[in-house]
Amino acid sequence: MSLEDVLEWVPERSVEGELVRQIDFDRLPAHVAVIMDGNGRWAAQRYLPRAEGHRAGIDAVRDSTELAARLGVKVLTLYAFSVENWKRPAAEVSLLMSLLKRYLRLEIETLMRHDIRFQMIGRDDELSPDVRVELNAAVSRTANNAGMRFNIAFNYSGRAEIVEAARRAIAAGILPEELDENRFGALLHTAGQPDPDLLIRTSGEMRVSNFLLWQIAYSEIWVTDTLWPDFRARHLLEAIVDYQKRDRRYGGIKPQPVVVGR
Ligand code: IPE
Ligand code: IPE
Ligand code: MG
Repeated sequence: MSLEDVLEWVPERSVEGELVRQIDFDRLPAHVAVIMDGNGRWAAQRYLPRAEGHRAGIDAVRDSTELAARLGVKVLTLYAFSVENWKRPAAEVSLLMSLLKRYLRLEIETLMRHDIRFQMIGRDDELSPDVRVELNAAVSRTANNAGMRFNIAFNYSGRAEIVEAARRAIAAGILPEELDENRFGALLHTAGQPDPDLLIRTSGEMRVSNFLLWQIAYSEIWVTDTLWPDFRARHLLEAIVDYQKRDRRYGGIKPQPVVVGR
């Protein structure tokens, strides 16, 4: 998880190599969250069915996951299926379910090799048993890995997550005066994880689409016109380089340089 780990993986004298040398490894975003969007448009541009866009999107998932792990990002969250995505035609929904299963089966060894701990964030009780079996297998197989946390947001809704956390607080008998932001945060799927420092959305859309509403309170947002199936290591590196130029204030003011001896 260092400059060397990335350089041995990217082609020599490449754009990626140039970008990774610009990164300050002491100031990496601890948590990167991505709204993977634009698969349908990618397919439409090629006169292909939407399914081909979703299939092609898997390469982008693979690339981003491996790069994030090699860089030393602590948490990567990818938004793969929202609660609202059930509105899509049944054939598309079922393809997305099969792709998730296939991805988990094919990529589990890569996750193990990179010491990645997999977790699903979202409501699993509405998923079919075969999808749940595959998800649970990946979660338990990687449970003892100590490297990057990899969350897949699947059947996820930020609002539903907040409501469920409120229900859990009530069920646990937490008194109103005992509830604060820390305790509430510990009832969310992302309990114990840092909030996203960097939120990426592909395909140029400027919206959050019900993603991690609580956790992105102070995330830096980076939007690219690149469609998800075209998203590669280079784009993630560009996002991190740009993120490191930002001035995060959290509502305060920019610290002024101290002038000595005047
Ligand atoms: C993102 O691509 C994948 C999912 C939401 C599952 P889309 O399928 O939303 O692609 P566009 O936005 O229609 O291009
Ligand atoms: C957001 O993409 C959800 C995922 C990436 C899974 P959508 O394509 O569903 O979002 P909208 O409908 O454009 O807001
Ligand atoms: Mg979309």
